Amino acid sequence: MSTLDLFSDPSEPDVSLPLQSVMEKMQALREQLHHHGHLYYTLDEPEIPDAQYDLLFKQLQALEATHPELITSDSPTQRVGGSVLDAFATVRHRVPMLSIRTETDTESSGAKAFDARVRRELGLDDSAPAIEYVAELKFDGLAMSLRYENGVLVQAATRGDGESGEDVTTNIRTIGQIPLRLQAVQAQPLPGVLEVRGEVFMRRDDFGALNERQRIKIAAGAKGEKTFVNPRNAAAGAVRQLDSGIAAQRPLSFFAYGLGDVTPLSEGGPQFATHFEMLHAFKAWGFPVADEIACVKGADGLISYHQRIAQARDSLPFDIDGVVYKVNDLSLQAQLGFVTREPRWAVAHKFPAQEEITTVLAIDVQVGRTGKLTPVAKLAPVFVGGVTVTNATLHNEDEARRKDVRVGDTVIVRRAGDVIPEVVSVLLDRRVGDTAAFTMPRICPVCGSDAVREEGEADYRCTGGLFCSAQRKQAILHFAQRRAVEVEGLGEKLVDQMVDSGVVKTLPDMYRLGFAGLAQLGRMADKSAQNIVSALEASKATTLPRFVFGLGIRHVGEATAKELARHFGSLDRIMDATEEALLQVNDVGPVVAQSLRTFFDQSHNREVVAQLRSCGLHWPEGEPAVQVVQPLAGQTFVLTGTLPTLSRDEAKDLLEAQGAKVAGSVSKKTSYVVAGVEAGSKLDKARELGVNVLDEDDLFKLLATLAETATPVQGAHLATESQS
Ligand code: IVH
Repeated sequence: MSTLDLFSDPSEPDVSLPLQSVMEKMQALREQLHHHGHLYYTLDEPEIPDAQYDLLFKQLQALEATHPELITSDSPTQRVGGSVLDAFATVRHRVPMLSIRTETDTESSGAKAFDARVRRELGLDDSAPAIEYVAELKFDGLAMSLRYENGVLVQAATRGDGESGEDVTTNIRTIGQIPLRLQAVQAQPLPGVLEVRGEVFMRRDDFGALNERQRIKIAAGAKGEKTFVNPRNAAAGAVRQLDSGIAAQRPLSFFAYGLGDVTPLSEGGPQFATHFEMLHAFKAWGFPVADEIACVKGADGLISYHQRIAQARDSLPFDIDGVVYKVNDLSLQAQLGFVTREPRWAVAHKFPAQEEITTVLAIDVQVGRTGKLTPVAKLAPVFVGGVTVTNATLHNEDEARRKDVRVGDTVIVRRAGDVIPEVVSVLLDRRVGDTAAFTMPRICPVCGSDAVREEGEADYRCTGGLFCSAQRKQAILHFAQRRAVEVEGLGEKLVDQMVDSGVVKTLPDMYRLGFAGLAQLGRMADKSAQNIVSALEASKATTLPRFVFGLGIRHVGEATAKELARHFGSLDRIMDATEEALLQVNDVGPVVAQSLRTFFDQSHNREVVAQLRSCGLHWPEGEPAVQVVQPLAGQTFVLTGTLPTLSRDEAKDLLEAQGAKVAGSVSKKTSYVVAGVEAGSKLDKARELGVNVLDEDDLFKLLATLAETATPVQGAHLATESQS
């Protein structure tokens, strides 16, 4: 690659250059842009700043403007789109684009059945060694066939009916990850004709950002704009967009996974022994290939891949709807052949869908432990994400309004992993009749107290406190849960009965019920009542962190309760600590400190604590911890690359000993990034965000200055002070 004068003014091309050197200059610029484009879009490892890339790009554009006859179809400037079509031309696939057989069995049976079928077809008996498979992700986008002639992208076509699809070349050119020209590599000469097949899709973050932009346009009154239902829908819309200028603004991605038409071996075409080898060649030629591809052996290998990917599914940056298994050996693939329109050597193993369509039967408002009102859509039962869903949270008033969910609406429900199901969006074109927008009640639906939304908060809260039976019920369930004092067997139904009958008004009431009181509730069998009595008895011996957590103080979770217990050692010291003293505790900030103070300043809360103690609840107490001033408390560090002398764990220990948090990813909140050799994208991110970057030497210097200034302080001293 020749070097170029990068900093001459791109807007004024030197028109006096002879044609030959214009061509050479253009060629050199294109090569540089291909190289840096590949590093940026496909490998995610840019070597030059964006501004420098833009400058190269503008130089090429300017040269092409003065010599339009020299523009080539593979020029990086041809990615931008702009042409508007009336319709897409039809493309006949020279090699049909097949579909694959789908197994939906949730367990291992799908993989076993596939492996057994393959072995049977190949005439292998049980003693034959395990078959090697390539296991891949099943991307949730749309299939695309990319045709390269002499290394240049000449056509991109959708799958269509498998025999012929649509020519979407102009739109596909706008995808930065798709090479316009293949990279020649030593190991694998470029075939004259090569059709690479793969999936065009939209990443989740790109989808989120696109919808955000769409919402802004709609709010500004733009006509004909809409938000998209899911990434696949958005990707399909972009690919089939007749105006390639619009398509260019829709961020698409691509992964290669298969081969179509190709120059035959007899005419100098490529010789791959395995599917895996072929994917490697794709990668070398410049195509993105998913990292999650694995070579595995036999049904067991497929099963564990399936399990691993099912676990990782939600943390991938894009949607998948399953995994695909393919026989690795291409000669075995040829031997297996096809049945009707499906290869015998591949199968898709689907995961349960994470999104389904259903209707909203009602919108209820639920009251939580801290009085928070949550609108919940009651749904016609629908099987999604592996379970039947009948409720989906609408989070809060703003969310419910933004999505404009109404009773009777047809909605998309999503349940990903163990996350609470939620309504993704309303299918507005299916809305019937004159329905009203949801409004949050201004009074608590349970106790009738005022519901208020404080400034800067998203939630409405019932002001009824423990007067509100819903809050009381939740408070009891919270106290009784396994991670708090644990009253085994105390479930929602029994708590409803306790509270609704009026016999349990506060937590201590529950301990005073006794066998007789319990047996009277509903029609409880003696045995069950006895079990609850024993469970209540057993719950009395607890620990300080469990008790503090169980009190259900706003913003005080399990971890904070542990820190409080460790720091103060006794409940009285916690109850009496001033806000300043509370702020000395790890992880306790002003909001938590204030919440604790507010809670313990209320006499009825202190009364509840006193009564619980007199009912016999007890826990070991200790001395307050000796508190060392932690100069790096509140600061977040990210480690990346290999440090010259410290291992990652050693560096982490050193930092944590000073109170710093060591995080895995860089954000605006990161205080420092400590970078060693081969630091990757985290370092780039740090630079992009302007986060301080240290090397190991800087880190030692920082720690040394801290050591000079730090003095240990007695936690006891702080705590006693606060008691006065
Ligand atoms: S292979 C002959 N591999 O799933 C085999 N397909 O019916 C051709 N898909 O529409 C397909 N990820 O768009 C293959 N890793 C993957 C895939 C994949 C997604 C899609 C493809 C096709 C459908 C298969």
